[in-house]
Amino acid sequence: MIINQWYLACVLDELNHQNPLKKKICGEEIVIFKTKSGEVGALENRCCHRNVNLSLGYVQDENIKCGYHGWEYNCDGKCVLIPSLPDDERIPSSARIKKYTVEVKYKSVWVWIGDEEKTDHTLIPPMHEMDEYPMVYNYHFLNADLQLVAESLFDAYHINHVHRNSIKGMMGALKDERMDFNVHVSENSITGSYFRDNDRSLFEKVYFGFNKKVETHFGFWFPNISKLDIRFKKRHMVIYEHYYQVDENTVSMCQITLWKNILDLFPPFAKWFMLRKSLAIVSEDIEFLENNKKVKEETGKKDLLIKSDEVTFEFLKLWKRKTMPHESLVEREN
Ligand code: FES
Ligand SMILES: [Fe+2]
Repeated sequence: MIINQWYLACVLDELNHQNPLKKKICGEEIVIFKTKSGEVGALENRCCHRNVNLSLGYVQDENIKCGYHGWEYNCDGKCVLIPSLPDDERIPSSARIKKYTVEVKYKSVWVWIGDEEKTDHTLIPPMHEMDEYPMVYNYHFLNADLQLVAESLFDAYHINHVHRNSIKGMMGALKDERMDFNVHVSENSITGSYFRDNDRSLFEKVYFGFNKKVETHFGFWFPNISKLDIRFKKRHMVIYEHYYQVDENTVSMCQITLWKNILDLFPPFAKWFMLRKSLAIVSEDIEFLENNKKVKEETGKKDLLIKSDEVTFEFLKLWKRKTMPHESLVEREN
């Protein structure tokens, strides 16, 4: 489990003023709720009275109320009300549960998993489109390898093949040839860009533009966000993937799709269309991600990377540097 990191626990519109949300991130059961005044709390999903999940309860003004006997906790995890407590007794000081540090940013709830004193607010990746563009999102639970999931969106060469019926058909064809990447590596991220040949149908050209090349950007922010960003003359489409280890065997993957100047005249249709596309894209990825883990486990074989896998190679270096900082780096075979 990768701790001392921010995790995007949910998109803000998943929360309402009544029902708490439960999430399991890196093996930790968390309940997330929004109070009447709009504050967002994230607590361990456990009432300390008789140990049931707080997510079975509901939000009461500024607190979350346990559904079993009505104990109430504030956003700091402190029990502030016990309905059955006699007037002459005080709430025991031990009646409190673990609280998680929360930041609400980019219309999402970020939860810090790890040591509170190591909280670093600068580590939330830049996701400005979340504040500006319409979006759809969907969650999936995979029997996959976290590292493979992390690098998937980011691997430019898979798009033309894995997504030949979804992204390729929608965003124009990628020529099957070596691409020139412009890659920038920093302490916690890799970003870059490349140009794709605009080889789409006449109908698509009319809509997306006749420019010969389509500009595509990509990014990875350790440990849990990948980005694909396709730019047309005035249209723009961004896909974020957020992923994490739920427990030892399961990876959660949330795909968030955002767009600008696409199907603007019909917003409900645009959402329906993008959600349909997004589900198709993600199901294509899942098939390969689960298969990749299975075949690697069954055969025990290592990957054979070649020169054109340069972005993947940068990813592997960063992943290794962050997860195994004391081991020497792998060398590329040419
Ligand atoms: S178990 Fe939560 S109030 Fe009793
Ligand atoms: Fe993909």
